[in-house]
Amino acid sequence: MSITIDNDTATLPDRIRRFPFPYTGDNYRYSANVEPSRKLTETEAGGWGTTVVDVDEFYVDDLKLRAEVLQRDPSRINALPHMRPAVWDAITTLLPEMAEDNPDKMSWQREGDRVRWRNTLLNLDIEFTVGDDASLPTGDPLDFLGSQIQDDIVFLEQRDKQLWLDAGVVTFAADWSIGFDVGMNFTEIHSPVPRVNEEKIISRAQHFLMSLQPGESYRRTNWTMTIDRRLDTSTETYPQWAGDRSTISTDPALPERVHLRVEVQQLIRLPRSGSILFLIRTYLLPLTDIAQVPAWRRRMGEVLAELPDDMAEYKGIIRYRKAASDWLLSG
Ligand code: HEM
Repeated sequence: MSITIDNDTATLPDRIRRFPFPYTGDNYRYSANVEPSRKLTETEAGGWGTTVVDVDEFYVDDLKLRAEVLQRDPSRINALPHMRPAVWDAITTLLPEMAEDNPDKMSWQREGDRVRWRNTLLNLDIEFTVGDDASLPTGDPLDFLGSQIQDDIVFLEQRDKQLWLDAGVVTFAADWSIGFDVGMNFTEIHSPVPRVNEEKIISRAQHFLMSLQPGESYRRTNWTMTIDRRLDTSTETYPQWAGDRSTISTDPALPERVHLRVEVQQLIRLPRSGSILFLIRTYLLPLTDIAQVPAWRRRMGEVLAELPDDMAEYKGIIRYRKAASDWLLSG
């Protein structure tokens, strides 16, 4: 006798229940789509978004992968010298909040500038002095922050009425390169993206970011697709992953291999340094998992079918979006 499992959300695994499904309609266009951080967003499968830094079942694996990428390619971490105070500001802003959100796994105890930081997920129990790089395990505050949170981390500074990318540790980029972009301004960074300049999205977004008050924090989502559960799709590793995009449409394993890749991006004005912190947290879910939520399956199928070619081309999905859409809509 076969048992039919009802698609009750309670039976779904966490990776689906907590997935930040990005589409709010049956078609998708670029927009600034910002909303306050720390707000629960409910989805057909559950919900996401109550914390700024999300710690999930992939925490240890993702951080191990980041360390390997940095070992192999140190250009993924970059900081102009004047950014040290901003990086310390990020550490003293994010880690206490993470400890509060995960009291069974982490703790942050501070007296004056002395801090004891415990993170049981990484078997870490250390003491350091805020502002003293040498007191940290690797002697580098940006590397340290990147070893504690799954998010890619970018810092922007305001000069001449513009935002400049002055520091970052980015190991999980969706086809761009921190080594290439460091030192560029917000408009230059977005110059490869179709539509957004004509539609004034980037100038409005920059204006919005520059008007953020110290301590304020907003978020937005962005999405693309990736073949296999591959977080490191930086320009630097292009030869390792780009070829799969031409062969996947005829691969019978397409539903398991093609993943919806969603970035939850946090936009934070740091309270002491005034720098803008941009966190990019990447989630990957295969189409077979998307299909466990019938409303997601249909909606993603519709979005992929309708997406204009220039956007599909920019996202690198033009050669297989139809095959993916056909599979989703056939279910
Ligand atoms: C409200 C703020 C922002 C908006 C509306 C925005 C908008 C966008 C859009 C629409 C894309 C194309 C995404 C795609 O199709 O996959 C994009 C790409 C990108 N954004 Fe933003 N963005 C914002 C903030 C930022 C910030 C703060 C940074 C940090 C420097 C940033 C860095 C990038 C980069 C590096 C890319 C990839 C560009 C490339 O292909 O080389 N964005 N952004």
